[in-house]
Amino acid sequence: MTINKNISTKEVVLEIKDLYKSFGDNHVLNGFSLKLHQGENLVIMGKSGSGKSVMIKCLVGLMEADSGTISIMDKDITKLTQEALDILRADIGFLFQGSALYDSMTVRENLEFPLRRHSKKMGDHINTTELVVEALENVGLADAIDLMPSELSGGMKRRVALARTLILKPKVILYDEPTSGLDPITSKEIIILMQEIQKKYRTASLIITHDVDCARVISDKMILLIDGTDYAIGTFKELSASNDPKIKAFFKQDL
Ligand SMILES: Nc1ncnc2c1ncn2[C@@H]1O[C@H](COP(=O)(O)OP(=O)(O)OP(=O)(O)O)[C@@H](O)[C@H]1O
Ligand SMILES: [Mg+2]
Repeated sequence: MTINKNISTKEVVLEIKDLYKSFGDNHVLNGFSLKLHQGENLVIMGKSGSGKSVMIKCLVGLMEADSGTISIMDKDITKLTQEALDILRADIGFLFQGSALYDSMTVRENLEFPLRRHSKKMGDHINTTELVVEALENVGLADAIDLMPSELSGGMKRRVALARTLILKPKVILYDEPTSGLDPITSKEIIILMQEIQKKYRTASLIITHDVDCARVISDKMILLIDGTDYAIGTFKELSASNDPKIKAFFKQDL
């Protein structure tokens, strides 16, 4: 059901068309599609187990879809060489569900890691320390540079993970449950940070969440992932006013 026809004139930075993915008899994605435009915050909401992480993993190439197309900046990712895909990946920041920091590395080393991995994009003559400090300042954690992940709180870990995503100055950021496992106040801080970052760098963001508050605050547009499809598209206001029982359920109960 399309509540709001997608008539944005802005450039499409990411498009998924008719994605299918099954695990045996478990048909997780059954023709899921989305379009993300330049500078837009697109929230995908879906129940636990509805396939949100599977979709994002297909998007970043950690999982192979059964069928469908995925294009990023107009390039079909299934048709790219490994090298071209690597270059494209440097433009896509991915904040994993949880924080996924390397436990044996300091905060500084965690942030240096993507710089080394994508040295082609960043160039050989970069000032690593400057970039690490800048990224940490963006998330208010410049003082944590020499700490180990075990010395950080959950909220701080999430901030460091965000800094690690930002350090490559991506054009698109994919967030998988950015507020999960955090208390309401820390969640709010992370949401504010996401908004500040989007304003500063004009990134497009795809935000996977089942946090209704997060969706309300941050979304320009939302897609409800139901039965493996993009069941409903619209603004938070439009969707939360819907009379469709499947849509209503999202805004009534804690998922
Ligand atoms: N590697 C895998 N092998 C088999 N089944 C999988 C695999 N990964 C995910 N699934 C199945 O796909 C379905 C969707 O999982 P997914 O992790 O995408 O859910 P989700 O929407 O992200 O849920 P949550 O909100 O709890 O994070 C689940 O039924 C899960 O068991
Ligand atoms: Mg998930």
